[in-house]
Parts: sequence; structure tokens; C-alpha cells
Amino acid sequence: MAQVDTPATQKTLALIEHAILAPSSHNSQPWRFRLVDNTIELRADRARALPVTDPYDRELTISCGCALMNLMVAARHFGRFKGVELLPKRMEPDLLARVQLEPVSGEAQSGSDLFDAIAQRRTYRKRFAARPVPATLQRRLMAVAEAGGAWLECVAEAKAKHALAELIAEADRMLWADPSWRRELALWMHPSRSRDGMVMPGLPGPIANAVVRSFDMGDGQAARDRELADGSPLLVVLGTERDTPKDWLAAGEALQGVLLTACKAGLQASYLNQPIQVAAMRQRLHSTLVHAGAPQVLLRLGYPQEDISPASRRSLAEVLDRK
Ligand SMILES: Cc1cc2nc3c(=O)[nH]c(=O)nc-3n(C[C@H](O)[C@H](O)[C@H](O)COP(=O)(O)O)c2cc1C
Repeated sequence: MAQVDTPATQKTLALIEHAILAPSSHNSQPWRFRLVDNTIELRADRARALPVTDPYDRELTISCGCALMNLMVAARHFGRFKGVELLPKRMEPDLLARVQLEPVSGEAQSGSDLFDAIAQRRTYRKRFAARPVPATLQRRLMAVAEAGGAWLECVAEAKAKHALAELIAEADRMLWADPSWRRELALWMHPSRSRDGMVMPGLPGPIANAVVRSFDMGDGQAARDRELADGSPLLVVLGTERDTPKDWLAAGEALQGVLLTACKAGLQASYLNQPIQVAAMRQRLHSTLVHAGAPQVLLRLGYPQEDISPASRRSLAEVLDRK
């Protein structure tokens, strides 16, 4: 007999529907959820790992941290957030978090003001409007990252942005020169992927896969990314003091807090993580920064010039473990 959800379960499922709107590398959506009484368990889905781009599952864990943040914001919005345990079982490293919920109903709790931004946030890869990001807003974003256990370094000055743009371009060329990296990217651009993965800007779906797999387009990508980075009002590096799975989870929570806060203020972001993904360049990037520790994500931030459609997502049924 088909399982019929109680109203209480439906309300809990609505929280997970918001969690899965989180960003993830290659739109791989590497998460699974399970309901256990008044708790939602979040697990890493390592079958969706990116072994070439992300050999240690660092970005995978950050992506799950973003989903966790959405889950907590939604639970607060519906007045149901009781607490969270991170990495609760040492012998079960895939169990990333347990979010405890209050019984159904209740008033919105503090920390729920970012709720509307969950559905409005987009990865915006186009040029931003030529409008600076106010210093007060930059400081607010830094405070949000710090509250989440990470740090955020803002780079708005042209010369410093250009130094980062050059690193990004160099890393682009290195990544594209690697056939394994291109093959992995192409796998997530496959035309049959309608509920996950990405589209290549300017390339129609059916040929994107073959083109990305076969050709080193590093020079073109480097030129485009350099121009985008130079032309963005603000580049930011989000990092953590240390570089363990716990830090990656915190980086994801902080990242999503920053993205939602930025979105609420009218900004969108996109990623230029390449110098962090190339292991040999991560230290060089770090040496240009003031903060100590490990850079985790490099973003460009600005005011979008047009609305863009949301990226695809898998359905709730595909990410939910009933037992
Ligand atoms: C940890 C992490 C790393 C990412 N790295 C990149 C990247 O290098 N390049 C890029 O274009 N997008 C990157 N993204 C963005 C994803 O591609 C994007 O979230 C996904 O396609 C879903 O789209 P949405 O963010 O608009 O919902 C990254 C996202 C996360 C969370």
C-alpha cells in the first residue's frame, strides 16, 4: 500500500524542499536526507563525488553545508528549529548533521529573515552592473561568515582584483589542459541530465559534452574569466582556519549565509574557484590574502543586470531515504 504522509511529515518534507535549493559544485546535489522522529539527518552522497575536480570531497562537503544552512533557515522560518549536531558519529563520516526539530507549528524564530532568499538566489555567471558593493554591506557579509566559523576577505580594489584575475586565468589553463578534468566536467553537462548538472554557456546541450571532452578551451576560458573577475565590483575569498571535514561543513554553512544575505540585499554571486581547485595554486592564492588558514571558495559578487531561470534540481523523492 502506498505510504501516505501525515501533515506533520509533509511540513518536515517542505523543509527539505528548501534545503535542496542550495548550490553545489557541478550542480551534483551530493546529499541525502532521512527523517527519524523529530530529526532530519543529512548525509553526504559520495556516489555523486567529483574525484578529479574534488579528490578529497572538500567541495562536496561544502555543498552539503550549504544545504544544511538552508534547512536551518527554513526550520527557523516555520518556528521548528531546536538544534543541530554536526558529524555526530565518528564511525559514520557520511552522516554530516542531525537537525532536531520542535514539534509542528510555532512562530518564526530569529535567523529566519533569509528564508525568501533561498528561492531567489542564483549562480549568476554573466557580467554584473557597474555598481559598487557598499562597504557597510561588505562588513555585514564578513560578519555573517565569521558567525558561521569562517572568514571572508573582500577584494574591491582594481590592482588586487587583477592579481586574483591572473591567478584564476592561470588555473583555468591548467585545469582545461587535463583530459580527465574535462571528461569529468563533460559528464555533468550531458544532454540526458535534466535534473542535475550544468549547461555550458553558449554551447547547445547535445554538442557541449563532446566539445568539452575533446578540446582544451583553456585560453578562451582564461580570457573570459579574467575579464569577468576584473569587471566584477567585488571578489571575495571565503576560508577557514583549518582544513578538515568539519571546517568544510562550516565553510558551506557560512557560504550559504553569505549568499543569502547578499541576495537579500540585491546581489548575486558566481564562483571562480579554480586557483583553490589546483592544489599547487592554493598556497599562492593564500599568500595574496591577509587571513591565515585555508581558502575554500572564491566568488565574484555584484548586482545582476537581468533575471535568470533557476538551475535544475532532483525531486524530493530522489534525495529522501524513508528508512
Ligand atoms: C562548493 C561549490 C563550488 C562551486 N564551483 C563552481 C565553479 O567552479 N564554477 C561555476 O561556474 N559554478 C560553481 N558552483 C556553482 C554551481 O555550479 C551551482 O550552484 C549549480 O550549478 C546550481 O545552480 P544555482 O547555484 O544557480 O542553484 C559551485 C558551487 C558550490 C557550492
